[in-house]
Amino acid sequence: MAHWAHSFYELQQQLTGCYSAPVHPCHYECVQQIQEAVPAGSLLELGAGGGQFAVAAARVFQVTALELRPSGTAHTLKLAAEHSVTLEAVTGDFYTVPLPRAFDVVCYWDGFGIDDDAGQQHLLRRVHDWLTPTGTAFIEVFSPWYWSKYAGYSRNWTSPQSSRQTYGFDADGNRMTDTYAPEGQPAQTQTLRCYSPADFRSLLNGTGLTLTKARPGGHYDPDAQVWTPAVPLSECMTWTAVLKRS
Ligand SMILES: C[S@@+](CC[C@H](N)C(=O)[O-])C[C@H]1O[C@@H](n2cnc3c(N)ncnc32)[C@H](O)[C@@H]1O
Repeated sequence: MAHWAHSFYELQQQLTGCYSAPVHPCHYECVQQIQEAVPAGSLLELGAGGGQFAVAAARVFQVTALELRPSGTAHTLKLAAEHSVTLEAVTGDFYTVPLPRAFDVVCYWDGFGIDDDAGQQHLLRRVHDWLTPTGTAFIEVFSPWYWSKYAGYSRNWTSPQSSRQTYGFDADGNRMTDTYAPEGQPAQTQTLRCYSPADFRSLLNGTGLTLTKARPGGHYDPDAQVWTPAVPLSECMTWTAVLKRS
């Protein structure tokens, strides 16, 4: 596991409150997109954060939300109670947690690429093992073109605490970087490996998974501060890999 994962996401929560936010309409839209492929069944979410997607999905699916940080699991259960849905929330490391069951859907939003390629392949082999023979995985992947274009973009956060966030791009390693510098505290960075669909197909070698679709996500223009939800693959911040067992 990346050594920075626990402390970075705890700091991000402390500075932005993003993992204790309410469920947003975009989470229900995401559930609808999954339902176009898999109308109902069991669903495992990896790196579930504060549980916003898990709670939206629990209206339709039998959800297991797996998250590294106990504070994220606690928030998931609180949000589920507020929305009167039931789900299973597990605190654990997705590289090692014993979860000997198969799911119709495995998904991972906003976080894939935390490790090196070998680590990512290990996780993808686990995704294979967690899928039923006809199951589908949805993995959100960071695109290299977006993050190299907007490297250097910076913005201030004032609430709940003052900090500066800066995007960067490591061209040699093909990784986006995202740094939070809180006032009076050391800065911390998350770095995620970016993949084109061609790179991702290579990464899948030996995992038992096949890329059936590369679904483009949206584009955020930080200069104009405009979010466009549907753009071509060549412009998106992230794209979703739709995977089946080979
Ligand atoms: C960028 S956040 C995204 C959270 C959520 N998926 C969302 O879209 O709001 C990534 C999440 O993955 C979790 N995470 C990172 N490494 C993990 C691991 N090895 N096992 C389980 N969860 C992990 C982090 O704690 C964090 O909550």
